[in-house]
Amino acid sequence: MIIFISLFLLAIVLVINFFYIKRAKELEERNKKLEVLTAENAKVNQELQNTLSLLTSANQKLKDLDRLKDDFVSITSHELRTPMTAIRSYAWMALHKSDTPLSKNLEKYIIRILLSTERMINLVNDMLSISRIETNRIEINPESIDLISICKDIVDEVYYSKATDKNIKFVLLEQPIPKVLADPEKLREVLINIVGNALKFSHTGGRITIGFFTDGKVVETFVKDEGSGIGKEDLGRLFQKFGRLDNSYTATASSGGSGLGLYISKKLIELMHGRIWAGSGGEDKGATFTFSLPVAL
Ligand SMILES: Nc1ncnc2c1ncn2[C@@H]1O[C@H](COP(=O)(O)OP(=O)(O)OP(=O)(O)O)[C@@H](O)[C@H]1O
Ligand SMILES: [Mg+2]
Repeated sequence: MIIFISLFLLAIVLVINFFYIKRAKELEERNKKLEVLTAENAKVNQELQNTLSLLTSANQKLKDLDRLKDDFVSITSHELRTPMTAIRSYAWMALHKSDTPLSKNLEKYIIRILLSTERMINLVNDMLSISRIETNRIEINPESIDLISICKDIVDEVYYSKATDKNIKFVLLEQPIPKVLADPEKLREVLINIVGNALKFSHTGGRITIGFFTDGKVVETFVKDEGSGIGKEDLGRLFQKFGRLDNSYTATASSGGSGLGLYISKKLIELMHGRIWAGSGGEDKGATFTFSLPVAL
């Protein structure tokens, strides 16, 4: 009996041992698999780290190149301005202060030189503004501004002769409006572009109306013309860089612009915490450009 019980216990011990060894083997195998997986993980991790550092250095190189490009644009624009201003001044003197009478042809050539130089100076100024805006180097110095007097200044001084040449009538709807908070130089730049566009795209004998709305928090200024207008499908791309609607050379030559003015105007207005938008009844139905600025407290 004792032998039988001993054999029975031995059998149980052997069975337990068998299962124990089997389990230990399984665990060992699992462990090995885990080690392989951990090694693979470490490898993938290392590859990721390598890719990340490659991307970081590529990104840095791109940023350096971008800065170089901005510096290049900014320096060349700046350097170009001085000789171009001299060309403009001498062309103006040749046209208006010549001590010998000019032949009709010579007068025509000098007028063309003046107009082309004017366009180049505008383009260079636009490029400088864009370079400053895109590198966040533009400084906004807000002050309390009387919108009506700045508009009067632009209509009476900046665009008086251009409007007279095209027989365009300016109507300034004066009304009591609060002063706005804006940088006077930047606001002038925006108005010069918007009013300049209205003049450029108006037909001879047309009318340009400038007016205001206010709700006490913001003042909206609108510039409305009766000119060539803008198709619905084009309204969305007016404020993009080089957003000219007609890219043909003839149109460029006749309307004289590079398509940067509205892009710059939008950026400047947004930097002054305002908004700008455009509306038009369609082609040949005129256009209205409106921008808002916060009321000065
Ligand atoms: N009042 C307007 N009437 C009709 N089209 C307009 C008017 N204002 C702007 N546009 C359209 O929007 C385009 C972009 O205007 P934007 O002021 O940006 O450029 P531009 O006047 O052509 O050149 P720039 O202002 O750089 O000298 C113009 O070329 C024109 O096609
Ligand atoms: Mg313009």
